[in-house]
Amino acid sequence: MIRHDRRNALARLASVATSLAACAALPSANAAAKPAPLKDLAAAKGLRFGNAVGYQYFKDPAYRALTARECNVIVAENEMKWPFVEPKPGQYAYSQPDEMIAWARKEGMQVRGHTLVWQPEKWLPEWVAKYDFGQGPAKAEKLLRDHVTRVCQHFGKNVYSWDVVNEAIEPETGEYRVNEFTKRLGAVDQIELAFRVAHEQAPHAQLVYNDFMGEEADNAKHRAGVLKLLQELKKRGAPVQALGLQSHIGSSNNGRQKADMREWRKFLDEVTGMGLDLLITEFDVNDKSMPADIRQRDAGVAAVAKDYLDVTLSYPQTRDLLVWGIADHASWLQTWEDAARKDKLAQRPLPYDASFKAKPLREAIAASLKAMPKRS
Ligand code: G3I
Repeated sequence: MIRHDRRNALARLASVATSLAACAALPSANAAAKPAPLKDLAAAKGLRFGNAVGYQYFKDPAYRALTARECNVIVAENEMKWPFVEPKPGQYAYSQPDEMIAWARKEGMQVRGHTLVWQPEKWLPEWVAKYDFGQGPAKAEKLLRDHVTRVCQHFGKNVYSWDVVNEAIEPETGEYRVNEFTKRLGAVDQIELAFRVAHEQAPHAQLVYNDFMGEEADNAKHRAGVLKLLQELKKRGAPVQALGLQSHIGSSNNGRQKADMREWRKFLDEVTGMGLDLLITEFDVNDKSMPADIRQRDAGVAAVAKDYLDVTLSYPQTRDLLVWGIADHASWLQTWEDAARKDKLAQRPLPYDASFKAKPLREAIAASLKAMPKRS
């Protein structure tokens, strides 16, 4: 009996071991449900994929975890802007961006810097408007030079790429925006100064001009103004290496079946023809004029995104793709009055919903990453 029982026991043990081995070989249900991270799909083609993180969302462990899973780059949504790092003249505040950089380094992520000078008067520190610039350009030049120097020195090599100047062109006219610095230094001279000081203080960094010109027909003057600025900077030998395409798309083409991307391609051809790289710096899809129904809306957002990304990522000079938030509740579009939907429903502009569930937009981004050519 004992021998018989022993033999049965050994047989049962053998069959359990076989089935355990078989289970171990199966991809776990969990792994099957988890698609390849977007950063991996991007890296396979030489592109970085990232997210803009606002400090209030950075404090959410779930938001940090999702960002770390999908991204290998972050940019501070607001915390490196002049009004945030120097709220009062001579009073500096770096603790929040420093905390975010420390986390990013721990997660093996790179950090973009946004933005040394956001050109419109309303986005410069309030105290700049009241500042005593005296007569002539000297004090304006010193204030600008000191700011760019201080911020570049503070963040040093923790920042691999800077939006040196953001939104210097009036979208309606294509003319240079006017602010306290352009009045005293001249628009292009001021912009050139910012790039030259950034290069002196952060010689390692990629220096970017960033703006929201879009692919739509009514953005023609904006595109032309940006091209004019870039041509002038290149002619002066200013150290600008890339154009940041903010890519806040969707608002005016939601009903559009197939975008007319001819003008957009012509624009990107002109920019890359100057030897500049491209970055998609602030990607999201405004669903303001899409239907209320979530399935239809998410499908529409995904289609508009794929349309835009397939063209823009077809340029191997496009080096980075960053979303401006990764889950819907973190989007600036929830509070920007121009983005408010008539039905007052929350916008759904990002790859994940407010419960961190992936949406069709995430799959559209993944599909565009898989379809795009490899960067050199
Ligand atoms: O941190 C303060 C908080 O203490 C205060 O209680 C609260 C209410 O006043 O304001 C908070 O600051 C807000 C900040 O976002 C952080 O939430 C500012 O008022 C608000 O103006 C700021 O909006 C940001 C906006 O730029 C202006 O800086 C948006 O989050 C940000 O998404 C948006 O991003 C810009 C890019 O920098 C440039 N491209 C366009 C893009 C969208 O506008």
